[in-house]
This record gives sequence, structure tokens and C-alpha cells, in this order.
Amino acid sequence: MKTAIYTSYGSPEVIQILETEKPLPKSNEVLVQIKASSVTRADTMMRAGTPKFGRLFLGFFKPKNTSLGTGFSGIIESVGSEVTQFKIGDKIFGEKLFSNGTNTEFLCIAEDSIIALKPNNISHQWAAPVCDGFLTSYNFLKDIANIQQGQHILINGASGSLGTAAVQIAKIKGATVTGVCSTKNIELVKSLGVDFVIDHKNDDFTKNKNMYDFIYDSVGKTNYSKSKNALKSNGLFITPVLSLNVLYYSISHPKKVKFAATGLKQPEELKQLFLELVDFFEQKRLETVIDKTYNLSEIIEAHHYLETGRKVGNIVVINQ
Ligand SMILES: NC(=O)c1ccc[n+]([C@@H]2O[C@H](COP(=O)([O-])OP(=O)(O)OC[C@H]3O[C@@H](n4cnc5c(N)ncnc54)[C@H](OP(=O)(O)O)[C@@H]3O)[C@@H](O)[C@H]2O)c1
Repeated sequence: MKTAIYTSYGSPEVIQILETEKPLPKSNEVLVQIKASSVTRADTMMRAGTPKFGRLFLGFFKPKNTSLGTGFSGIIESVGSEVTQFKIGDKIFGEKLFSNGTNTEFLCIAEDSIIALKPNNISHQWAAPVCDGFLTSYNFLKDIANIQQGQHILINGASGSLGTAAVQIAKIKGATVTGVCSTKNIELVKSLGVDFVIDHKNDDFTKNKNMYDFIYDSVGKTNYSKSKNALKSNGLFITPVLSLNVLYYSISHPKKVKFAATGLKQPEELKQLFLELVDFFEQKRLETVIDKTYNLSEIIEAHHYLETGRKVGNIVVINQ
């Protein structure tokens, strides 16, 4: 089978598509034929080995884990002897946290991982990236912000993977939503349900004094110091992107600024959030925004496109 591998840090060209051996499931695992997998910002950072402090965990001189990709959707081809929740032929989706390796044709994953049956009303393409934008933004809006009906949230980067997910989740929660994006993405962001849109090319949301209960900087393009005046007096700045400013204020003002790495959440809590998202998809209350799809053989191109910082929603690798 074909697998995306990188054995050194660097530009997208370090990725190779190699022939690897098809894995065999352990007793508690299922073997999945991958139909679609995600390529995310985190994948490009792991591949590049940036920021450099990340190498303390990833491997100092070269990556310890040479596989790429965490999100996937596919069909179960075989099951281990102790598997009870899934059977051959089930269409499942989810993520392979930390061990990665979904940018491939087959993978084995434990049945108690962050996986579930794929709702019939969504495609493999829609399902594969759900654990990036939706799971991260749901964690921020539900568990960290505990956003309530009528509260006003500003979503900076409303056209990204996390942003397009956050807009839809905030609307489900009954919040008033202001989305920030560039001119070309205004119509898309409006179509997702925002109440107000701010074009960051022509306007500066930080001038709106005492306006928002939450600022969710989903792309790390602002910080608490720059935007605090736009928050109400008891408002909260939340972001999935760590910077020195965020690190400083999240420690010194923990009631004002919160950062979290969603993947480090307790697996049971993450699974619960994931299953709630599955319900929303089944009820057709969420939709995945896909910018581009690539074949596995084109994954280098996918990484290059992602690094432009201009992608809209998600990037997906399709296995034909
Ligand atoms: N902590 C966690 O658990 C966690 C989990 C997943 C991801 N992340 C991080 O979350 C971040 C977001 O990832 P992503 O995939 O959603 O998006 P992304 O690829 O990083 O960003 C793409 C979007 O950013 C928008 N953008 C660029 N400059 C902007 C600006 N100045 N103001 C507002 N929007 C701007 C672009 O829209 P325009 O062209 O319209 O400006 C584009 O649609 C990444 O840094 C990723 O590493 C963290």
C-alpha cells in the first residue's frame, strides 16, 4: 500500500510516497481502508519541525514518528478478535491522535479511539477533517467558553478550518456571531450563518469597544493585548494558537485568556465531544467546508497550498 512518509524536517518536498506493508489489526483494533484523510496546519508544522520547541516532543534532529495525517474516514476491512462495537463493512471516521498515519491507504486503530460510524448523510470527504476544525472549536466554545444563548462571540479567522466550524457551532448554541475574514470570503462566512461580518482588509474589530463576550482567535492573527478593549469587562479571549502574549496572559490573567491543546484533553472527554458532533451532523446542523481535494500522490502540493495561510475550510486527500 502507499503511505506518506517524512524522515527529516523541512519543506513539503521531504514527503515521500512509499510502498509499505499493509498492517494487521491487533485483537482490539479494526483495519480501515482509508477513503479520505485530512491535511491540517498541525501536519505542516510537524513536517517542518516548527516551532522548534515542538522538537522536544517530536524528535530533536529528525521526526520520531515518520507518518502524517490524523483525521480519516474509511471502510472497515477486518476486525480484531475482541472487537465488539464495529464490524466488517462499517463506514467509520475519526482521528488517530499522536501516532498519526492517516495519509495512507490502510490503517489499524483501536475500537475505543476517537472513532464512530459515519453518518450516511455525509461523505468521506466531509467526515475526514471533522476532528480538526469541529472538534477543536467545539472544545473551545462548549467546554472552555461554555458559550450561552444570546452571548456575542467574535471569531477571528472565520474562513479557516476552525473558524468555519466555530461559526456553525456558535449559531447552534444560540450566540450572536461576528466573523472576521477577508473580502473574498465574506459571502462564504455569511452563508454559514454569521450575524455580522468584518473584513479585516478594510476594518479593525479591535476598535469596537466593550462589544464581545468572547473573542475566539482561531488563526492566531491577533492577541489579548491588541483586542482586550473589544471585550466586555467580564469577556474572555480564547485561542488554539500559542504565542508569547497568550502564554503570558493565560498564566497571569487566567480568567481573561485561555489556550488549550485539544488533543491533550482526556480521551473520554474528547470522545464525548466527538459523539455530540456526530449527532449534529446526523441532524444536518453542521457542514464541512472543503477548499481543495488532492490525491495521495499530490500530498506535497497539498502541504504547499496549506502553507499559503489562505485556505478556506479544509484540505482533504482522497484515495480513488
Ligand atoms: N490548540 C489546538 O488544539 C489546535 C487544534 C487544531 C488547530 N490548531 C491551530 O489552529 C490554527 C488555525 O488553523 P486553521 O486550519 O483553521 O486555519 P489556517 O489554515 O491556519 O488559516 C486559514 C484562514 O486564515 C484566514 N486569515 C489569514 N490571515 C488572517 C487575518 N489577519 N485575520 C483573520 N483571518 C485571517 C484566511 O482567511 P482570509 O484569506 O479571508 O484572511 C484563511 O481562510 C492553526 O494555527 C492550527 O495549528 C490548534
